Amino acid sequence: MMEALPRRPAPITLPIGSDADLARVRQHVRQVATELGFGLVQQTKLVTAASELARNTLVHGGGGQAEITPLEEGHRTGLRLSFVDQGPGIRDVALAMTDGYTTGGGLGLGLSGAERLVHEFAIDTGPGRGTTVTAVAWVTGVPAPRSGAGTRRPGAR
Ligand SMILES: Nc1ncnc2c1ncn2[C@@H]1O[C@H](COP(=O)(O)OP(=O)(O)OP(=O)(O)O)[C@@H](O)[C@H]1O
Ligand SMILES: [Mg+2]
Repeated sequence: MMEALPRRPAPITLPIGSDADLARVRQHVRQVATELGFGLVQQTKLVTAASELARNTLVHGGGGQAEITPLEEGHRTGLRLSFVDQGPGIRDVALAMTDGYTTGGGLGLGLSGAERLVHEFAIDTGPGRGTTVTAVAWVTGVPAPRSGAGTRRPGAR
């Protein structure tokens, strides 16, 4: 059997309007991160960040979109996740980024936590302008071995 050539996943925009949409965003981020060669730990960080940011888009922004964009810059591979809404915007971004700050009765750890899980993080927002939060992570370290030949079971010698 011929093996398929590795293909770069296409950029995609997904709607964020319901809990089911949040699940689809998480699923898609996991899939694309895997295809791009992110290791398991990095995949999980990306999915967690995406989950928090998409939930903010839904809960605070009144819904919007997720833009999931594979990046290739020279030798490095990354993933850009943007969460876009036309909601009320954030008046004080520094305050919103503070651990524990919430206007919605949450834990107030979504934004600050997401920032710590990625390499680059930016918020474009203002009252009446809506909010776009963009997170970028780059594949780091040696790629994890594919399952099958050459992998080791935990405890194997
Ligand atoms: N897309 C958005 N539009 C408007 N305000 C936002 C948006 N995202 C975040 N915020 C504001 O920033 C605050 C902090 O967000 P963060 O995600 O850290 O906490 P939270 O959503 O309130 O609680 P949780 O810990 O459950 O995520 C929110 O309470 C809200 O006021
Ligand atoms: Mg939140």
